[in-house]
Amino acid sequence: MRNILVTGGAGFIGSNFVHYMLARYDDCRIVVYDKLTYAGNLDNLLPVQEDPRYRFVQGDICNRADVEAAVRAHEVDTIVNFAAESHVDRSIMDPDAFIQTSVYGTYTLLEVARSLELERYHQISTDEVYGHIPAGQSSRETDKVEPRSPYAASKASADLLVNAYHVTYGLPITITRGSNNIGPYQYPEKAVPLFATNAIDGLPLPVYGDGRQMREYQYVGDHCEAIDLVLRRGVIGETYNIGTGVEVENLDMIEVLLDALDRPRSLIRHVADRPGHDRRYSLNIAKITALGWEPDHTPTEAIIKTAAWYRDNEWWWRKIKSGDFRQYYETQYGERLRAAAAQQ
Ligand code: NAD
Ligand code: DAU
Repeated sequence: MRNILVTGGAGFIGSNFVHYMLARYDDCRIVVYDKLTYAGNLDNLLPVQEDPRYRFVQGDICNRADVEAAVRAHEVDTIVNFAAESHVDRSIMDPDAFIQTSVYGTYTLLEVARSLELERYHQISTDEVYGHIPAGQSSRETDKVEPRSPYAASKASADLLVNAYHVTYGLPITITRGSNNIGPYQYPEKAVPLFATNAIDGLPLPVYGDGRQMREYQYVGDHCEAIDLVLRRGVIGETYNIGTGVEVENLDMIEVLLDALDRPRSLIRHVADRPGHDRRYSLNIAKITALGWEPDHTPTEAIIKTAAWYRDNEWWWRKIKSGDFRQYYETQYGERLRAAAAQQ
């Protein structure tokens, strides 16, 4: 593993992975291959822009000729696929791009990896493929997938394709299923950066339903470290859960965030819920910890560190929130927030 194609590397986790790998390995070379959708942002890669070990190629993972050209031109031996439409609410509004990228795009990457006989294909997946997990249980890698949103279904479909290429063609694959990541460069449509940036501006925090849904918020750097470990020591053909093993209720996450930013609880607004909202995710992480990894941050530390990053990096998020994001925000929250205000 020396020349890695990081698809979706201009997004949140992908860009953090690029920073992690270039800081950790002198001999690692990375080509970011990214379509630059609304979520792709070259600002996320500014710190490595001048690094001779880094290259950027703009392209769609659904375009086989372009992917193949990038792989050949840069003598890529490993693909790590982060590229996806990643926001559940947008998948409810319009699933089309989710299916295109995660299903057809993953198929395209697998075909390139197979035909060019790459050393490794690694798929970045999610705990959402397991669906809602009742209290007292946690998901193991061998559990069946029961996705419940178009986003989760598109990711589960990709996992099935990746496994099929291993079983049928012997493609050397691994899969990691991560829980909710938080940290630098996360597009402010996701709950933690949305709430942090709204709180900084004294705007309401739109909390879906009762806010007692549970997520395993993990620091993105910890996730990247675990992905690297699976690339180095993971067993070919295997899937690994990556999380903290600790669930946090959304309202508890919000209280930590508001305290970290010194903002009042009165900013919390309960609004109409997300359709099909999964109440709880919970990962059993015994398999990845047995490989020799454990998270460096507790969920509370991760939330506080993330809040501080958004407080200190307005240059990054203000550009985003003042652009097309406004239209999205009105569509997703306008009616919800007006209805909540009318009930007060
Ligand atoms: P993101 O939305 O921030 O970034 C996605 C990136 O993929 C963007 O740079 C975008 O331009 C690119 N992209 C989208 N469609 C593309 C296409 N057709 N061709 C090439 N590039 C394309 O997403 P993220 O939060 O960084 O998530 C990255 C991956 O990790 C996704 O596969 C997601 O499902 C998975 N994941 C995310 C989380 C999380 O908490 N954010 C947790 C577990 C797994
Ligand atoms: O679990 C891993 C997944 O985590 C990833 O696969 C996804 O790509 C990523 O987007 C994330 O999905 P979630 O739907 O859990 O994340 P989101 O940040 O959208 O929401 C976190 C929780 O906060 C969830 O219970 C919904 C709630 N929420 C979210 C938003 C955007 C709100 O209450 N209000 C909001 O405005």
